[in-house]
Amino acid sequence: MTKRYIRNAAELVTCRGAAPKKGAEMADIGLIKNGGVLIHDDEIFAVGTTEELDKLIDDSYEIVDATGKTVMPGFVDSHTHFIFGGYRAEEFGWRLKGDTYMSIMQRGGGINATVVPTKEATLEELVEVGRERLNRMLEFGVTTVEGKSGYGMDCDTEIKQLRAMKELDRTHPVDVVTTFLGPHSVLPQWKGKEREFIDYLLTEVMPKVKEENLAEFADIFCEKNVFEIEDSEYYLTKAKEMGFKLKVHADEIVSLGGAELASRTGAVSADHLLKASDEGIKQMAQSGVISTLLPATAFCLKEPFAPARKMIEAGCAVALASDLNPGSCFTNNIPLLVALGCIHMGMSIEEVITALTINGAAAVGRADTIGSIEKGKKADIIMLKYPSIHFMPYHTAINLVETVIKNGRTVYHKEW
Ligand code: NIG
Ligand code: FE
Repeated sequence: MTKRYIRNAAELVTCRGAAPKKGAEMADIGLIKNGGVLIHDDEIFAVGTTEELDKLIDDSYEIVDATGKTVMPGFVDSHTHFIFGGYRAEEFGWRLKGDTYMSIMQRGGGINATVVPTKEATLEELVEVGRERLNRMLEFGVTTVEGKSGYGMDCDTEIKQLRAMKELDRTHPVDVVTTFLGPHSVLPQWKGKEREFIDYLLTEVMPKVKEENLAEFADIFCEKNVFEIEDSEYYLTKAKEMGFKLKVHADEIVSLGGAELASRTGAVSADHLLKASDEGIKQMAQSGVISTLLPATAFCLKEPFAPARKMIEAGCAVALASDLNPGSCFTNNIPLLVALGCIHMGMSIEEVITALTINGAAAVGRADTIGSIEKGKKADIIMLKYPSIHFMPYHTAINLVETVIKNGRTVYHKEW
C-alpha cells in the first residue's frame, strides 16, 4: 500500500459534511489550521490537525510538506463542452462590434458552425485536442470535469464525441463525466420540426448511447427560438424514463421558465440562469436542483451575471463552472471564475470554494466520492502556493495551483 501524509498545511479546506451545500451552509468550508491528510493508495484515510495526525503515522508514510500552503479538494468543473472541432474566433470579433450571440446563431453561425469541423474530425483527433484541453484544466487544479456532446446532432458524431470523452476518462488523470446534449441547437433541416428532431434523438440516438453506456446525463438548450419549454419538457421526461440523469441549459438569454422546468422534471442541475425568475429561484431551492452558474460566459457575452447572492439567500445550492466551449466562452480559467464570483456576484471566497468543489461534485452526481477531503473519499487534492484561501481572489485571476494529487498520486507540480 502507498501511504502519504500531507503535513502542516497553513489552511486545510475540507468542505466536509452533507452535500450539496445549500444557502447559508455554503459558507462553511470546514477549515482546519495547520491541517493534515493521510492518504492510503487512492483514498483519504484520515483528516485532522498536524498535531493529531503526527501521532498516527510511522516510517511507512511519504511526507508531503505543505508548510505555508493552502490544501483543498480538487476542483470539479461541472459544465463544459470541451470536445469539438475547429474554432469560432471570428464570432468573438463580431460580438465585440455589437452582434449578439443569438443573432449570430440565427444566421447560421454559433453552435451549428461547429458541427461541420466536429463531423470532419476523426475520433483520434477529438481525443488528441481533448487531451490537450484536459492538461490545461489539470494545471488549474481541476480533477473532475463534465463534458457534453452536442456538436453533431446526428448519431455518428454525437457518439464519436462521447466515445472520445470515455477514452479520455480511461487514459487521462482528469475524470470525465459525460452528458448527451443532442438537442443543443436546431440544424436547418430540422427547423420548424423540433419535436420530430427530439423524437429522432430519443429513438435513434439515445438508445445507442445507453447501450454503450456513453453518457450519464441528458441535457438540452432550453431557450427561446431554440427548444421551447414544451419540447424541452417532453425530451427531459422521456430521457429520464430511459435512465438518464438530467441537466438543463436554462434561462440563459431569456427568462423562459427553465429553472422551474428543471425543478419539476427532477433535474440534478439547472445551468446558466442569468435570467432566472424569482419563482424559478424559489423552486430550485425547494426541489434541491443545483444552480450551476457560468460567470465566464456572462463575462464573454457582456451579459449581467446570474443573481448568485439572491439564490444563496433563497437557499439554493450554487455551483460554479467554466462552460468551456468554442463559442460563448473559450476559457477554462478557474481563477477567473473565483474573481467574478467574489468581485461581481457578491459571493464570499468560502461560497466560491464550495461552489467549485463539493457542489460541483454534487452537480455531476459524485458527491459521495469526491468534492471534499474526508475519510473514505478519493484523494483528489490540490495545494496552492500561498497560505490562505484569501489569496485566491486577492491574487486576482492568477493560477495559484502548485501541486495536483489525483487518486493519491501527484500528477502535476509547478516549479515557480
Ligand atoms: O452553454 N448556450 C448553449 N450552449 C453553450 C454554447 C455553445 C457554443 O456556443 O458552442 C453554452 O454557452
Ligand atoms: Fe453550456
